[in-house]
Amino acid sequence: MRQDPERLVETGYDEIAVPYQVWVSQVEDDPRLRYLGNVLKQVPGRPDSLDLGCGAGVPCTALLAERGPTIGVDISAAQVELAGRNVPDAQFIRSSMRALELPPESFDLITAFYSIPHLPREEHGDLFRRIAGWLRPGGRFLATLGHRDLDVVKDFLGVPMVTSSYDVETNRRLLIDAGFAVPVDEVVTWYGGHVTYQWVVAIKNGERTVVADRRRP
Ligand SMILES: C[S@@+](CC[C@H](N)C(=O)[O-])C[C@H]1O[C@@H](n2cnc3c(N)ncnc32)[C@H](O)[C@@H]1O
Repeated sequence: MRQDPERLVETGYDEIAVPYQVWVSQVEDDPRLRYLGNVLKQVPGRPDSLDLGCGAGVPCTALLAERGPTIGVDISAAQVELAGRNVPDAQFIRSSMRALELPPESFDLITAFYSIPHLPREEHGDLFRRIAGWLRPGGRFLATLGHRDLDVVKDFLGVPMVTSSYDVETNRRLLIDAGFAVPVDEVVTWYGGHVTYQWVVAIKNGERTVVADRRRP
């Protein structure tokens, strides 16, 4: 019988919180800061931000907290503890993003860097609808999504880890069904061709969709 996927992810990240941070900080061409910088230019003033699957809070939750009130959410107690120490200006909640209860229309920006593919894909559409509900009209959702049909448990930094995703067209359709326009929709490969994700910026009640494919060999 397949182990409870959330429990697997939670215990996995409790174990690899520090090794993950060491590994990811060595990935020089990680595009997350470029996407975050671009989206922060689109939200004026001091945005209310929510970072889903915030990990240890650096660098992304920290940048959000520099701009405005920020909540980070992570399923792993070890990650939340690190994040609290790394980013004292943000608020952190230990919870699955799936079970999160937040007031409607209370955020200008919601981010999810490399976290949604750890949630079983049958849950993604419902999560997108809930994210749309938490955003104010015109609010942005910046996320990395899996780029292909995949639903596996495989080794990640020495622990079994859930990776669950749809293809890019299905992801886009689920976002549109949830009430988003998707003006940024790009498949990007980096880390010597070993890492590929679909990057999306989705706007609640927003603008037109432009699709780009930046796969590199
Ligand atoms: C690959 S790490 C990314 C961490 C951080 N966003 C970053 O960019 O470095 C994925 C994070 O998502 C968290 N996560 C996975 N599933 C989650 C869920 N259902 N709810 C909340 N957090 C989750 C993990 O605990 C982990 O900290």
